[in-house]
Amino acid sequence: MVEIRFEGVEKRFGSVTVIKKLDLTIRSREFFTFLGPSGCGKSTILNMIAGLEDVTGGTIYFDGTPVNGLSPAERDVAMVFQSYALYPHMTVYENIAFPLRVKKERKEKIDEEVKRIASLLDLGSLLQRKPKELSGGQKQRVALGRALVRKPKVFLMDEPLSNLDAKLRLDMRTELKKLHQELGITTVYVTHDQEEAMVLSDRMAVLYMGVIQQCDIPINVYKKPANVFVADFIGSPPMNFVDGSSFRGVEPIWSALRELDREVVIGIRPYDLIVSTREYDDKFMVLRGEVLMVEQTGNEIWVDGVFKGIKIRGRLIGEKNPFPGESVFFHVPFEKLHIFDKESGTRII
Ligand SMILES: Nc1ncnc2c1ncn2[C@@H]1O[C@H](COP(=O)(O)OP(=O)(O)O)[C@@H](O)[C@H]1O
Ligand SMILES: [Mg+2]
Repeated sequence: MVEIRFEGVEKRFGSVTVIKKLDLTIRSREFFTFLGPSGCGKSTILNMIAGLEDVTGGTIYFDGTPVNGLSPAERDVAMVFQSYALYPHMTVYENIAFPLRVKKERKEKIDEEVKRIASLLDLGSLLQRKPKELSGGQKQRVALGRALVRKPKVFLMDEPLSNLDAKLRLDMRTELKKLHQELGITTVYVTHDQEEAMVLSDRMAVLYMGVIQQCDIPINVYKKPANVFVADFIGSPPMNFVDGSSFRGVEPIWSALRELDREVVIGIRPYDLIVSTREYDDKFMVLRGEVLMVEQTGNEIWVDGVFKGIKIRGRLIGEKNPFPGESVFFHVPFEKLHIFDKESGTRII
C-alpha cells in the first residue's frame, strides 16, 4: 500500500494562496482525515492527491516517487464524492462493473469482481436496480463499490456521508471503518464533521485557512487541542472560553496564572464542568454562577449559566434540575483546564 508525502505543497488560485506550505506524511494503510470548516482547503488537498488539480509549489510523493506530473489514472487512486455521481441509466451491476469495462477486463473476471464487491457491501440483492430505485445509503454503497472494484492504491473520500440522514450516516460510518480494517487501503478522508473525524481516523489534521493547526491521533487532539481554534472546533457541546482575569480569587488557578505572568484564555469542556446547587469539597475549583437555561439531551443534562458576566455551560449529575435564576456552583478539576495564550491562541498548558 501507499505512503503519501507532501513536501512544501502549496496551491494558489490566481493571487489567492489556498494551501500554504503543507508538509505531511500520510502513512501506508492509514485512515487519515482532514477536518475543517467549509472553505479551508480540504477538497483542494484531496484533488491535488488525485491529480485533478496541479500543485503550484512543492511535491507530492507516493512511496517516495514524485507524482506531480502524473494523471489521475496513472496515480491509481479512487475517489468518492458527496454526490454519488452514479450513472443513472445503468444498473447497480453495470455501475460497479464500469471501471473494469473501461480497463477491458474479461467478462468472467468482471462478473467475479462485481459479485465479490457486492457481497462485501451487502449489495447482492440490488444488482439489477437502477440508482433511482435506491436509498441514499444504498447509492453511497454503490459509489464505494465502483471505487473499490479497481483495487486502487489510495482511496480518497470527500465528505461522502454528508448527504445521508443521521441514522444512515452512523451506519455508513461503521461500514467505512470495517471496510478499511478489512482492506487496509491508504485512505484520505475529508469532512467538516468533527465527530466523524474522531470516530473514523487513525490520525487527523485540523485545517484552517489552508494551514494545518494540529495533526495527531484523535484522542490527543481532543485532550490537548493545540490552540483556541482547534479547541473550539472539536467537541460537542463546544468548549467554554473564559478570560483569565475572570478567575481572580479562584484558587489554585489564580496563583498559577499570576506566575505565568501573561494574558490567557481558559477553556473548559462543558462535560468537565459539573453543576451543583451545593458546593463540593476542595478537589475542585468552584465558579459561582446563575442558571440561564437547562437543556436535556438523551443522556446528559446541560446547564447554561452566567459566571461573572460570561455565559458558560456545564453538566448536571444526580440532582434535580435547577431553575432559571437559581444560584449554582460550577466545579472543575484543575487538570481539566485548557490554558491558551490570549494573543496568539496557542496552548500553554
Ligand atoms: N478553482 C478554483 N478557483 C478559485 N478558487 C478556488 C477554486 N477552488 C477552490 N477555491 C477556493 O479555495 C478555497 C478552498 O476551497 P475548498 O478546497 O473547496 O474548501 P473545502 O473543501 O474545505 O470547503 C475556497 O476559498 C475556495 O473558494
Ligand atoms: Mg470541499
